[in-house]
Amino acid sequence: MPTSSLLSGLEVSAGRPAIILAPMEGITDAPMRAMLTEIGGFSHVVSEFLRVSQTVIPKKVFRKEIPECENGFRTGKSVLVQPQLLGGDPSRLAESAREVISLGAPGIDLNFGCPAPTVNRHDGGATLLKYPERLEMIVAAVRAATPSHLPVSAKLRLGWDDPAVVIENAKRAEAGGASWITIHARTKMNGYQPPAYWEWIGKARLGVKIPVVANGDIWRIEDFRKCREISGCEHFMIGRSALADPWLAHRIRNELVDETGGTVAETLPLAVDLKAWLPHLSRFAELSRLFSQKGDDTRYAARRVKQWLRYSEVHHGTNWFTRVKRFETLPEIFASLAEI
Ligand SMILES: Cc1cc2nc3c(=O)[nH]c(=O)nc-3n(C[C@H](O)[C@H](O)[C@H](O)COP(=O)(O)O)c2cc1C
Repeated sequence: MPTSSLLSGLEVSAGRPAIILAPMEGITDAPMRAMLTEIGGFSHVVSEFLRVSQTVIPKKVFRKEIPECENGFRTGKSVLVQPQLLGGDPSRLAESAREVISLGAPGIDLNFGCPAPTVNRHDGGATLLKYPERLEMIVAAVRAATPSHLPVSAKLRLGWDDPAVVIENAKRAEAGGASWITIHARTKMNGYQPPAYWEWIGKARLGVKIPVVANGDIWRIEDFRKCREISGCEHFMIGRSALADPWLAHRIRNELVDETGGTVAETLPLAVDLKAWLPHLSRFAELSRLFSQKGDDTRYAARRVKQWLRYSEVHHGTNWFTRVKRFETLPEIFASLAEI
């Protein structure tokens, strides 16, 4: 498949490096997607997984989980949202893909990496890495249900417990017609335990012709450089680090663009610059309230803001979460942060 036909607005092709916001269930919902794409740097974002179990996912569920579908599957900043499906039944996945495509989805991503026991027990996520032929059948069924100008991608972990199976699974995804593969460089048994084994991404990449997106533990620009060197990839997905350092996507993008002779990087705030964070935090609180189906529940928005601050504390040593963790309302949180 020629790389140009992979695009359809989703920027994964040989000539244009992509930086994708990772799907993170319970974190990268519509308000978070809106806020992070306002800060910018991302080529596109992938939705949290939608699980296809006994029935096809109806349109109303897609509308609820991906409210951006009312806006052409774009966040407020016009960044495309690629729905992600998870499940083990090729025909129900294909039917669900048809439903969301009929709402205007720009493509489909398939989840072959979720390590959650309930998901795995019910034949979804990382379990499928043990059955390469089923993985191929699923990709092929969804590919056949999706118009050929729209991409179908597959997001894999390295394997269930053996990282070497990523080579066969990547080939199977390609044989099923995947437009690209994203590889989270850990097995299911590795959970989220560091390190990420980027060398396996490199080995899998050499076995396929389609683009490969590298993912896992790119926390800082130095990690990006190392991951790029080891994996040989030109496309990257970042998840938790987008919360820990909301400007990391820009840092990566600027480095890639700069190298290709484009615009030189603007000066970006440090990950620990609270002054730079504050307007985004308050915007996120506003967006959380706007999107919340719990009415005007500011406590919900407060919980989301605290969840976000926790990432900066764990990974960049700020004390912002510790300061605000006992507060349950937004005014208390913002008053406490304003004193720093
Ligand atoms: C809380 C949480 C939820 C996640 N949910 C999903 C999901 O819905 N779909 C998926 O493919 N991966 C999911 N992931 C995995 C991430 O997309 C990503 O592969 C992983 O976090 C490694 O990337 P990172 O080190 O940049 O965070 C999730 C990860 C976390 C931490």
